[in-house]
Amino acid sequence: MTTRDLEVAHGGIPVGKEGIYSQQPILSARKLVITFGRVVGLDGVDLDLYPGEILAVIGDNGAGKSTLIKCLTGAYIPDSGEILMNGQPVHFRKPQDARMAGIETVYQQLAVVPALDIASNLYLAREERRKGPLGSVFRMLDKKGMERRAGQAIQRLGIQTIQNMGQAVETLSGGQRQAVAVARAAAFGSKVVVLDEPTAALGVKESGMVLEMIKQLRDGGLSIILISHNMPHVWEVADRIHIQRLGALAGVITPQSHDMGEGVAIMTGAKRLAPSA
Ligand SMILES: Nc1ncnc2c1ncn2[C@@H]1O[C@H](COP(=O)(O)OP(=O)(O)O)[C@@H](O)[C@H]1O
Ligand SMILES: [Mg+2]
Repeated sequence: MTTRDLEVAHGGIPVGKEGIYSQQPILSARKLVITFGRVVGLDGVDLDLYPGEILAVIGDNGAGKSTLIKCLTGAYIPDSGEILMNGQPVHFRKPQDARMAGIETVYQQLAVVPALDIASNLYLAREERRKGPLGSVFRMLDKKGMERRAGQAIQRLGIQTIQNMGQAVETLSGGQRQAVAVARAAAFGSKVVVLDEPTAALGVKESGMVLEMIKQLRDGGLSIILISHNMPHVWEVADRIHIQRLGALAGVITPQSHDMGEGVAIMTGAKRLAPSA
């Protein structure tokens, strides 16, 4: 076997979407490094996320996927490297900073508060007060308004199975709960939504619903980072696929340029991308 047998071609950009990739990335990382004692979490990672794309991030356990998105969303502060939004350097000290900049994150665990109703979950930590002194002096919440707008947000995302915004989230199915979490992330003028394994705990039908929703958000202009172990899901929805390996970027491919087998081979180190011409 020659070296060539171990190499696969570069991924390039998705066919038919050249317009998107001629723009400036909305979010970029340059040479991100973070260590935890003697463990290297990220070893100089670059990432680009373009407006209106779904960028999947794949990699084996410990490859640095979660660490990468934690750096991008203010949960970790990298030791070195740069994060840029629309080409401008940003310095997130805490998740709230990233959120203010329009980056929302949905984690697999604890995405919603089960005992609260749907509208309250959507407005968690950003409740809207009633207009006038009732809101400003008596701190009364605009519950009716929040329910109405929550209903509109859910409707826009096509989750028709949810009828009543006053329904407690604990009475919803896993897929519906995750849909509420994604709707919440997408509902407040966010530009970037980061999803860490959003379908990991869901059945086939529910995963399908959440994937549809993710595509709709992308088609509405949001930029999405999707971390997933589920290769069929990734190949179904991703525009491009960022492959992490041992804390470093192994390469970026597209579902058209490489099949799942090749993607997994790059992920495990069985194959590598040929040096670019
Ligand atoms: N807070 C932390 N403290 C110590 N080590 C960490 C911490 N966060 C991540 N790591 C280490 O960094 C590496 C990358 O982890 P992670 O980003 O969680 O991988 P992935 O999400 O791809 O499975 C692993 O070796 C992990 O043990
Ligand atoms: Mg992880």
